[in-house]
Amino acid sequence: MDADLVVVGSGFFGLTVAERAAKELGLKVTVIDRRHHIGGNAYSEDDAQTGIEVHRYGAHLFHTSNKRVWDYVNQFTTFTNYVHRVYGVHKGEVFPLPINLGTINQFFRANYSPSEARSLIEEQAGELAGTDPQNLNDKGIQLIGRPLYEAFIKHYTGKQWQTDPKDLPAGIISRLPVRYTYDNRYFNDTYEGLPTNGYTAWIERMADHPNITVQLNADFFDESQPVSKGNAVGNVPVVYTGPVDRYFDYKEGDLSWRTIDFEEEVLDVGDFQGTSVVNYNDADVPFTRIIEPRHFHPERNYQTEKTLIMREFSRFAEKGDEPYYPINTEADRAKLLAYRDLAKSENSVLFGGRLGTYKYLDMHMAIGSALSMFENKIKPHFAGGEALV
Ligand code: FAD
Ligand code: NA
Repeated sequence: MDADLVVVGSGFFGLTVAERAAKELGLKVTVIDRRHHIGGNAYSEDDAQTGIEVHRYGAHLFHTSNKRVWDYVNQFTTFTNYVHRVYGVHKGEVFPLPINLGTINQFFRANYSPSEARSLIEEQAGELAGTDPQNLNDKGIQLIGRPLYEAFIKHYTGKQWQTDPKDLPAGIISRLPVRYTYDNRYFNDTYEGLPTNGYTAWIERMADHPNITVQLNADFFDESQPVSKGNAVGNVPVVYTGPVDRYFDYKEGDLSWRTIDFEEEVLDVGDFQGTSVVNYNDADVPFTRIIEPRHFHPERNYQTEKTLIMREFSRFAEKGDEPYYPINTEADRAKLLAYRDLAKSENSVLFGGRLGTYKYLDMHMAIGSALSMFENKIKPHFAGGEALV
C-alpha cells in the first residue's frame, strides 16, 4: 500500500487529520469513505430543480468560539454573515425561540420587564420545588414551570425521542435556558456564518492536496477493497472515524442512536415560511421541524418561482439507518467503556470523530478534536517514532 497514513471516513474529523498530515508533515494519505462523496454529514449539493443548496444530512450551521478552529477553517472558505434564528409553532401561533422575553410576553399576553418575567417563571417552577425529579417531565416543570414547559418542550422532546417525557430519564436535560432579554440569536459563539460557496466547495478544498488520495464507495470492512481493515491495520497507521462498535464486530453489543427521516418537497411558491427553521412544538404535527434552505443564503440570487422544504421526522435508528444522535443510555455507556478499552489496545489505530467516539460533535468540535489528535499523537509519532495509541 502506497500510503503513510490511512484515514477511514472523509467527514470533518478525517479530512482535518488528512489535510494536516499531508500539508504539514508531507505524508502520503489515503482517505476512504463508503459513501459516494466526501464531507461526511456536512455534505451539501445544489438541488437539480431549484438550484438551492441542500444540506443532505440535515441543516448544518457553523459556529465556534475557538479562534484556532476559526483561523484553520478560514484557510478553505470564507463565511457569510448569516445569523441563525429559530421560530416555533404552538397552537397555531408563531413564537421566537429559544424561550426569551419575547416568547414569554407573547405567550402570557403581557408586558413583563426582565425581572418581572424572572419572578413569574421562578414562581411557576416552584410547583415541584424541593422534589427530586425522576423523569424528564418533572425535570422540565422544575426548570421552567409547567406552562412554558408544556407549550415548547414537552411534545417537541416527546417527538424527538418517540417517547412520552414521563418515561424519559430526567438526566437527558440538565438545564433549559430562558433568556430574560429579547435576544433570540440561537448561538452565543464569537464566530458564526455559512460557507460562502457552500459546504462542498469548502470540503473539496481541504482534500485538494497532491499527497491526498480519496477512494469513494469504499467500505473499510469490505475485504475486496484495495484499502481495508485486513490489509491496512498493522501495516500502516490508521485513523478510524466510522462507528466504534462496527470496528469490533459489535462484540460488546450495539450502541444506540437516533436518526432523522427527511421528507423533501419542492413547492411552487418563492418563499414558504420566511425563515430557515420553524419548529412544530405540538403533538398533533408528526414532524419536529421544517427547514427551508433558501433562507440560509439570502445573499444568493436564487430563482423565486419555487422553493424547497424538508420536514424532519425523528426516530430510533435500526441497523442500516444513518446514526445521527447518540442515545447514551446507561447500557450504552457501559458498552462504550468496553469499546474504549478495545480501541486503546488496537495498535496504531486511532479512533476519532462522532462515530468513532460515540459522541455528538458539532463541526467545530470535530475539527478541534482532529487538530488536537494531529498535534498530540500523529505529529510526535512521525517526528520521533512515538507509539500511536
Ligand atoms: P461524519 O461527518 O459522520 O463522517 C464520518 C464518515 O465516515 C462518513 O462520511 C461515513 O460515510 C464514513 N464511514 C463510516 N463508516 C465507514 C466505513 N466502514 N468505511 C468507510 N467510511 C466509513 N454540526 C454543527 O456544527 N452544526 C450543525 O448545525 C450540525 N448539524 C448536524 C445535524 C445532524 C443531523 C448531524 C448528524 C450532525 C450535525 N452536525 C452539526 C455535526 C456535524 O455533522 C459533525 O461535526 C460531523 O459530522 C462530525 O464529523 P465526523 O468526521 O466525526 O463524522
Ligand atoms: Na489504538
